[in-house]
Amino acid sequence: MSKKILQLLNIDKFYGEEVIIKVLKNINLTFYEGEFIAIIGQSGSGKSTLLNIIGSLDKPSAGKIFFKEKDISDFSRDEMALFRNRSIGFIFQFHYLLPEFTVLENVLIPTWIKTGYDTDDQKNRALKLLEYVGLKDFVNRTSNTLSGGQQQRVAIARALMNETDIILADEPTGNLDSESSSQIYRLLREINLEFKTTFIIVTHDSRISNMCDRVIEIMDGTIIKDEQKNPT
Ligand SMILES: Nc1ncnc2c1ncn2[C@@H]1O[C@H](COP(=O)(O)OP(=O)(O)OP(=O)(O)O)[C@@H](O)[C@H]1O
Ligand SMILES: [Mg+2]
Repeated sequence: MSKKILQLLNIDKFYGEEVIIKVLKNINLTFYEGEFIAIIGQSGSGKSTLLNIIGSLDKPSAGKIFFKEKDISDFSRDEMALFRNRSIGFIFQFHYLLPEFTVLENVLIPTWIKTGYDTDDQKNRALKLLEYVGLKDFVNRTSNTLSGGQQQRVAIARALMNETDIILADEPTGNLDSESSSQIYRLLREINLEFKTTFIIVTHDSRISNMCDRVIEIMDGTIIKDEQKNPT
């Protein structure tokens, strides 16, 4: 059995003060190294809220989170930011590239956040990652001149830049046609197999979830299914 990487224990997330909306209710989940996981569920069921808590972008109202057996639940905002930068890569539906920056610069952003500058080694790593995602010839173009699928591949290279253990993706193919979606999926899978990165992917696309090792379904803030498809 692979090593535990992240564990959520009795996680609740509530919004509001007078009227309280319970968005996540007593979530218990354990993620292991190298897993390739889909989170599915209807709109409004709590998928993005869950992913944001997994990625330390948001704090739960109650419950504990452990990263490699270490309790990170009481981290301050600064500690959370540092943890995210070192341990988690993000890919969003609308990729959030900086439009006026070049492709290469966009991939270097996590490095700038980490240290405030970039070294030749880091630049070479960024170039290698861009080659890996098939964008070798685009490195000096500004990102707003690329197609949606190309921009999404820049976002993937950016997510890989800091060599994190986990990559979280929220609808990474949500605004792409089906051919680009399956290309992106194959790329994520290849990265998962090559670097043993754990992937947690929120998706509406059943073709993607069908190809994951594990599918977690959420309904009204509760896990209703957690299915292992290719037990290791
Ligand atoms: N900041 C907030 N304040 C109040 N309610 C919120 C807040 N953020 C999310 N919610 C509510 O929490 C519920 C879950 O939202 P969430 O974004 O996690 O759903 P989702 O499963 O990602 O949906 P979609 O598939 O549409 O992206 C929704 O009912 C939403 O309105
Ligand atoms: Mg969402």
